[in-house]
Amino acid sequence: HLPPRVRIHEVGARDGLQNEKSTVPTEVKAEFIHRLADAGLTTIEATSFVHPKWVPQLADAEDLFPRVADLPVSLPVLVPNARGLDRALSLGATRVAVFASATESFAKANLNRTVDEALTMFDPVVERAKTEGVHVRGYLSMCFGDPWEGAVPVPQVVRVCKVLLDMGCDELSLGDTIGVATPGHVRNLLTALNEQSVPTDSLGVHFHDTYGQALANTYAALQHGVTTVDASAGGLGGCPFARSATGNLATEDLVWMLRGLGIDTGVDLGRLVATSAWMAGRLGRPSPSRTVRALSHE
Ligand code: HMG
Ligand code: MG
Repeated sequence: HLPPRVRIHEVGARDGLQNEKSTVPTEVKAEFIHRLADAGLTTIEATSFVHPKWVPQLADAEDLFPRVADLPVSLPVLVPNARGLDRALSLGATRVAVFASATESFAKANLNRTVDEALTMFDPVVERAKTEGVHVRGYLSMCFGDPWEGAVPVPQVVRVCKVLLDMGCDELSLGDTIGVATPGHVRNLLTALNEQSVPTDSLGVHFHDTYGQALANTYAALQHGVTTVDASAGGLGGCPFARSATGNLATEDLVWMLRGLGIDTGVDLGRLVATSAWMAGRLGRPSPSRTVRALSHE
């Protein structure tokens, strides 16, 4: 049993570019986002309003956001704290995401906080965002494995999911930050969340493809009724604060599979492949996406 339609949450411009060694010029990022919108993606995570020293690649958020704000698509942005939310709201952002961790090690590395201190930091952010009518996504990292702590117990993940939802997050994105999950593990987590009365339609999945399992994991999630899937054009991505994080599930690989299954995404695969091939040229290396390589004629 599979859903008739899947909403792709495109993260290439944020998760993809936050990890680049070279500095991608703001105008290239803006063109990337415009091209993603032209290819039919309707939710395009644009950037992060985080500390510029922590993520120098996205330090141009104030410059970038106004260049894409008029696109007729949703443009969520990451905000870790009140300062980040202020910056995002002052530019007119209408969708934001906070980002929690299921493990202490990553909470410390990514947010300089314990898991619960980070949740305490998000609480007023979510409350204010909701008051302003802003949609809030809650990311949860390290839902399956953690580079320092190894396998992450399902109840530990479920606990933080519930806190984020109780706080008022409109949706959750379950992150396999380092790409170690396999489909059975995905099923176990989704089943445990259902048993705790977390509705499946509030859940999205966010798989990195380190072990080549991202598409299989996505399929398992679709079978479970999940209809929001995060992916990154060309398979860009990674997290600078997690050893061994590689790129996200490539949007093209996802669209190829969904098209074969007769599941509608509204994405023009040819345009998307051309966009990722163009971006690969800007970054100076080939896209890791198998579908991009198979379909691009460079
Ligand atoms: P901190 O050092 O503890 O910051 O960092 P602080 O709260 O102590 O503040 C220190 C100074 O930073 C203050 O300035 C603040 O104003 C300033 P001062 O008063 O000293 O002059 N500051 C800011 N400036 C601009 N924008 C801000 C901001 N916040 C504070 N938003 C902090 C804490 C959360 C800020 C830091 O750890 C941080 O920015 N972390 C971001 C890390 C990040 O972006 N990681 C990647 C995204 S998560 C990810 O990729 C995973 C995901 O894809 C899912 C998955 O795959 O699992 C989502
Ligand atoms: Mg990620």
